[in-house]
Amino acid sequence: MRIATTAEELRQWSRQARRAGQTVGFVPTMGALHTGHLSLVRAARERGDAVAASIFVNPTQFAPNEDFDRYPRTLDADCALLEAEGVAMLFAPEPREMYRPGAATFVEVEGLSDQLDGASRPGHFRGVATVVAKLLLAAEPDRAYFGQKDAVQVAVLRRMVADLMLPVELVVCPIVRDADGLALSSRNRYLSPQQRVDALALSRALRLGLSLFAQGERSGAVLAAAMEQSMIASGRVRLDYAVVVDWATLAPVERVEAGNLIAVAGWVGATRLIDNAIPGRDSGKM
Ligand code: PAJ
Repeated sequence: MRIATTAEELRQWSRQARRAGQTVGFVPTMGALHTGHLSLVRAARERGDAVAASIFVNPTQFAPNEDFDRYPRTLDADCALLEAEGVAMLFAPEPREMYRPGAATFVEVEGLSDQLDGASRPGHFRGVATVVAKLLLAAEPDRAYFGQKDAVQVAVLRRMVADLMLPVELVVCPIVRDADGLALSSRNRYLSPQQRVDALALSRALRLGLSLFAQGERSGAVLAAAMEQSMIASGRVRLDYAVVVDWATLAPVERVEAGNLIAVAGWVGATRLIDNAIPGRDSGKM
């Protein structure tokens, strides 16, 4: 596996791979890799792409009060995992490569950026959209792979790619969970053993939403209220939101249809966790 620290090296690698007749798949991450991240690499390998991954803890997507400084950084272990998955190129830039002195250009996806996680994390999706646009322009991939885990991020990035007419296909991969249902997240490392148990309130609420849908409930308000109650009743999670929305617009839906997004977020101690499911697609057994 090659490691590049400049956008130019990454771009040259990508152009070379395409000249050699390969398609390029790109998996952007912030590192502290787990099986969820690796599932994106596997999806790209299964499509036959030459795979580039990136590891960059992007400062512009963290608010001043958030965990940028203590975000887990495990570069050596991450490299070994990516190499074992057949990644050909790792892009691991320093902040000064991604944000040159005087950088003044940002990408704002109006209307979506301030919904749901964006409401609790002002400026977060501006940072995400900006860095992903820059990464895509550097990597020039045919396909870029993202997890459904960050469903609002997917909605923001789909809109951005369409609006900026970026020539890339976004591939969205299913959420990888632990056996007990907890969605894998780099932030799960922050949880104490008790909090790890408390965190199951999120996936439990989603299972309730999915099973109500499977039983024929179609009111978005009823589903959202049931999930909200379930999270509050756990007594261990501070609720941020429990919603049923259209995945593209993030607007609440009155009548739930297969393919809508049911999503929850909350704090367990100081750690903010998110999770979601898609009625009609994800199983209540998750
Ligand atoms: P990060 O949180 O490291 O996640 C990188 C990618 O892995 C994202 O597309 C995310 O949705 C996916 N992912 C995380 N947990 C997953 C799980 N349990 N199952 C499936 N996929 C999962 O998301 C970011 O980084 C950043 O915002 C980034 C896009 C890299 C921009 O900085």
